[in-house]
Formats: sequence, structure tokens, C-alpha cells
Amino acid sequence: MDTFDLQMNFRVVLKNQAQESTAELLGQMGAQRVLLVTDAGIQGAGLDRAYHQALTAKGIETAVFNEVEPNPTTANVEAGLAVAREFGPQAFLGIGGGSVLDCAKGINILLNRGGKMADYAGPQQGGAALLPLVAAPTTAGTGSEVSPFLLISDSETHAKIVCKDWQAIPKVAILDPSLSLTLPPMSTLFAGLDALVHGFESYVAKGSQPYTQALALKSIGLVHQNLPKVMAEPSGVEARGNMLIASNLAGMAFALSYLGLSHSLANALTKMKGTPHGLAVGMMLSSVIRFNAPVCGADYEHIARYVLDEACPADRQEACLALAEAVERMARSLGMPASLSELDFQKSQIPALVEEALRQATIQFNPRMPTAQELTTLLEACF
Ligand SMILES: [Fe+2]
Repeated sequence: MDTFDLQMNFRVVLKNQAQESTAELLGQMGAQRVLLVTDAGIQGAGLDRAYHQALTAKGIETAVFNEVEPNPTTANVEAGLAVAREFGPQAFLGIGGGSVLDCAKGINILLNRGGKMADYAGPQQGGAALLPLVAAPTTAGTGSEVSPFLLISDSETHAKIVCKDWQAIPKVAILDPSLSLTLPPMSTLFAGLDALVHGFESYVAKGSQPYTQALALKSIGLVHQNLPKVMAEPSGVEARGNMLIASNLAGMAFALSYLGLSHSLANALTKMKGTPHGLAVGMMLSSVIRFNAPVCGADYEHIARYVLDEACPADRQEACLALAEAVERMARSLGMPASLSELDFQKSQIPALVEEALRQATIQFNPRMPTAQELTTLLEACF
């Protein structure tokens, strides 16, 4: 029997224009001083303004740290830490994508425990209590608002520091569709593909268990129905809300089960050419489904029956292939390139990509461990 240890000590609020509820909630937590963590893009678009105003109207003193960069660095965390030390917050409010939320988690850890980010690489146990973090995602993809993971790049060595700390999970996730209505189309697509792949990988991962699969299945269904809708009508509040829910459910799922081969290959693509994460995982998903199907066909068949409904073939193997085709068709119809050549990769780069993919921690959780030759064949088919 597989065992599991489920820890979900957080609250999730879905509300359009949630600024007043958020201020109310921070007030109820007893926070009179809040550090708002965001980035220049979010601030330039004015997305944090109504939140800032609502906090001020509630008598909550607010300082802003807006220097988070995409793929946040240890320098970003240190800069935020300096602001936090000076201001002395009683809580954090993160408004942004996964980078902002991860950076807020990092600032929270260093403020309360000292040291530097590299001291917290890997799974963490115990440690001093952290301040409450309220997280309002502006993209529907990473699920960082409910995940114990934070990914920070070392500013000097450029190495990724991956930290997993259950205490770093935000106390409250605010799913406010109004924050994602103006997200550009390709950012929306890449984030949505990331959420979709989180659902798929956590459903079949070695660490998968009943909670993971329940969360992941609903997430996959929501992305399948709503990603085409938000791409067709970016200002649709209902579909944007459903994508935030999907990303949130998938975030909980992979916090419990971890990820798989799509992420291992995608990280290699990103490292080599800076391919955006969501695009890279999206490009790998259907090939990984085909590769994994011989060992977890029953799982994919469940997903296929749920997603494809009456269009799902009766035969298991055909159902897996139909599922792979369906996700590929959907992503391409929304603008995902058809091959790695379109992303400027050359076949001669395959050996280096394979080597890097095999080094990724996520590969250990994939249900089928590939050989270098199998990865080579998989990547060749992507050209
Ligand atoms: Fe991801």
C-alpha cells in the first residue's frame, strides 16, 4: 500500500475584484503593516493599485517592493529582504506570477530565519515560524500560491536553488480573475499549458495518490474547456476564473506528487535556448504521454474518458493516443509551434538536451524511466 502525508493548511478564496475582501482578511489576521511584493510590469499595468488603496482604506500601512524579475534571483530576494527589514511587516501580500510569489516566499524565509537562499536548498523541515503570506496570482499556470516550492536563481552562479518548505505555502490564495484579464495572449497560453502539464504529470507521477489524481483530473478538464475560451475572449471573467482554479488545483496536486518527464525535457530546452517554461512543457506533453502510455495506460485512459467523453476510443491504447492527439491539437490551434525546428533547435543539439534532461530531479518521478536512446528517439520525433 502506498502511504501519503497530506498537509494543506491554507485558505483559497475565489472572488472577482477581491481587493476589499483581501484587506478585510489581512485585518482579521491582525496585520497592521503589510509588505506588498510585486513587479514593475504588474505595477505599470496598475494591477496592484486597487489592492494598495483597499489596504490603506482599512488603515493598514503598506510598503511596496516591486523589483522582482522573471526567474527571480537571490539579488531580488536580498533587495526585498532589505525593504522588509526596514519596514517591519506583519504580513506579506504577493501580487504577480510565479516569480513574484516565489520571491515573496524567499523574503519571508530569510526575514524570519536569517542566512541566504542557498542555505534553504532542498526539502526543509521545521525552522522558525514565517509571517502570513497572502498570494494573488496574476497568471494561471504555476500554482505557486498553494505550493511549498520556490525556485530562485543564484545571481552569481546562475544555478537554480529549489527549496521545498511546507511552511512557505501562502496562508491565503486569492483567485481574482480581474488580475489576469489583461495578460497578453502568449503569456496566457504558456501559463495555461504549464497548468495542463502539471495536471498530467501529477496524475501519473510515481508519487501520485488519490488526492493528487482527484485534483489533477478536475484541473485537466478545466484547462481543456477553458484555455480555448480565454484565448478567444481574454476578458471573459468566468473562463479566467476557471483557469485560476485549474492552476490552483494542479499546484496542490504536484506539491503532493511532484512532476515528470515533460518538465525534465522542458528544463533542458529552457536552459539551452531560454524557451519559456510553459511553452517548453507544452511542446513535450504529447510525446511524453505516448512514451509513458505502456506503463500507465490505465491512468491516461481515465483522463481520456473524462476529457474526450464519447469521443474516447474503447481500446486503452487507442484512448491514450487519442488523448495525446487531443492535447496537441488544442495547443497548436491556440498558437503552440508544431516542432522544435520552429523554436530554432537543431537535431545536432539532441545529445546535449538528453544529457541535461537526465540530470533533472523531476525525471525520477516519471512513471517510466527513459534511457538516453529513448529520449533521443522521443526528441527526434519532435523535429
Ligand atoms: Fe511547470
